[in-house]
Amino acid sequence: MIVLGIETSCDETAVAVLQDGGEILANLIYSQTGLHARYGGVMPEAASRDHLRKLPGLLDEALAAAGIGWGEIALVGVTYGPGLVGPLLVGMAHAAGVAVACNVPLVGVNHLAAHLFAHKLSEPAIDPPFLGLIVSGGHTLLVVVPRWGEYKVVGGTRDDAAGEALDKVGRLLGLGYPAGPRMDELARDGDPTAIPFPRPMIESGLDMSFAGLKTAAVYWLRDRPKTSIPDLCASYLEAVVDVLAEKAVRAARRLSLDRIVVVGGVAANRRLREVLPQRANERGIMVSYPPAALCTDNAAIVAACAHHRFTVLGYPGALDLAPDPNLSLDGWA
Ligand code: KG4
Ligand code: ZN
Repeated sequence: MIVLGIETSCDETAVAVLQDGGEILANLIYSQTGLHARYGGVMPEAASRDHLRKLPGLLDEALAAAGIGWGEIALVGVTYGPGLVGPLLVGMAHAAGVAVACNVPLVGVNHLAAHLFAHKLSEPAIDPPFLGLIVSGGHTLLVVVPRWGEYKVVGGTRDDAAGEALDKVGRLLGLGYPAGPRMDELARDGDPTAIPFPRPMIESGLDMSFAGLKTAAVYWLRDRPKTSIPDLCASYLEAVVDVLAEKAVRAARRLSLDRIVVVGGVAANRRLREVLPQRANERGIMVSYPPAALCTDNAAIVAACAHHRFTVLGYPGALDLAPDPNLSLDGWA
């Protein structure tokens, strides 16, 4: 069964072709980061227009890369939320067009659920239950996945996403957008104990807050403009990673889960990849990191989620799908 996946919820235009829910025949991603770099963040209207410009060609390219024709598509999966309403609409309109033209079902996908499917694609033999840590530029949440198709959000940020907190301080340092990868590199030459940044809300609970930490970095730079950039990056990242690792391990222990699956752009962070497995393994908890290409926004995870929703959950699909910019993962199926 060939599933076409389309993802346009933020600043990546992505199209994928997936066979039988697990074999990726094509997974093409066009990133708009160059377009948004000058704003230091995603400009929604520019994003919509760029998706519109890029998506038709990318659909053709994906089919060619997969070596299939339009007639072989059996199902179309598309992200309908959460995300930016304009960009979502562009992807959904194209997806509906393909579904009508090919006379196949259109299945809407929750972008956050799709992120978790990176694990199903990379480790199909390791089934839930597990704790998902979704950590990207737009989202930071902890979710219990008892089985595929069932999601219970147990914690998350109350303000900025972890990636957003990195990007905003990185912008101040002139590291470009998104700043996370560059900050990661610079941190290698820095001392993570150089600056005693706070660890907001680390003492208890499963919720997080990164806005105060970001403000602490802003004040530090204002008061000590000569601070070594690598030291600042290393110390700031250490605080973010410390909070993420502490909360994820706490959630897994509290809920008696023996596996944590980390997805989203920040999952690429070198320090998070060191600290989290270390702390989790001490407690008998394993950590899975899908490959980076599946962790960041892409459409193979959308196709995988749509395939599961259609074939396993029995969702029939619907053409009158509406975008839902604030779609929650809690209880979504
Ligand atoms: O999942 P993603 O590609 O897009 C969404 O936000 O949905 O995540 C992008 C985020 C950005 O905030 C970026 O700075 C961060 O992931 N990021 C990193 C690294 N690579 C990407 N943060 C820290 N270290 C990295 N190596
Ligand atoms: Zn995402």
